[in-house]
Amino acid sequence: MTTKFEVLISKERIQGRVKEIGSEINRQYSERVSEISPLLVVGVLKGAFVFLADLVRELKIPCEIEFVSASSYGDSTESSGNVKFQNFISRDLKGREVLIVEDIVDTGLTMKKMLGEISNQGAEQVAVCSLLYKPSRKQVDIPIEFLGFEIDDKFVIGYGLDFDDRYRDLEEIVIYSPESEG
Ligand code: PRP
Repeated sequence: MTTKFEVLISKERIQGRVKEIGSEINRQYSERVSEISPLLVVGVLKGAFVFLADLVRELKIPCEIEFVSASSYGDSTESSGNVKFQNFISRDLKGREVLIVEDIVDTGLTMKKMLGEISNQGAEQVAVCSLLYKPSRKQVDIPIEFLGFEIDDKFVIGYGLDFDDRYRDLEEIVIYSPESEG
């Protein structure tokens, strides 16, 4: 078995888009958050850790950061649809402006569950920021207020995204295609 790696989105394009999204977030939240009530940025682990780390360093508004662990893929390339959270946010979300940061919205099932949980806990408003969106795989509609790139139905890795927990450290978004030889 051989594996093909093809760069889909370069490091430079990612960096440029992250800066643009950061500026847009700064603009949209400048009047809505303050030192007393900062933006609560919630990263969805593990995939979002790289994007979130780059994005928050573009923010010029007061923010706090939380992480939630979500998993639906296990070691497969297909979502199981069974979204599980570990260590859900324990702090009070009442009246808070919350921004969920994801690496990818695929079927939308993870984000649907996240949005439901955060709204149930009394957040003032919840928005979604995702680096990638795969419309071809959509099972539920998710409003993505801040989006990096829409992509085709290819299995992608890098910049936080994994296959079997590998390749999260790549600096670009890469199409991963295992192929049989011969
Ligand atoms: C991936 C990704 C999203 C979710 C999106 O997480 O990071 O959280 O799947 O898929 P969905 O829209 O079909 O729900 P994964 O379960 O692979 O965990 P990981 O982030 O730890 O790699």
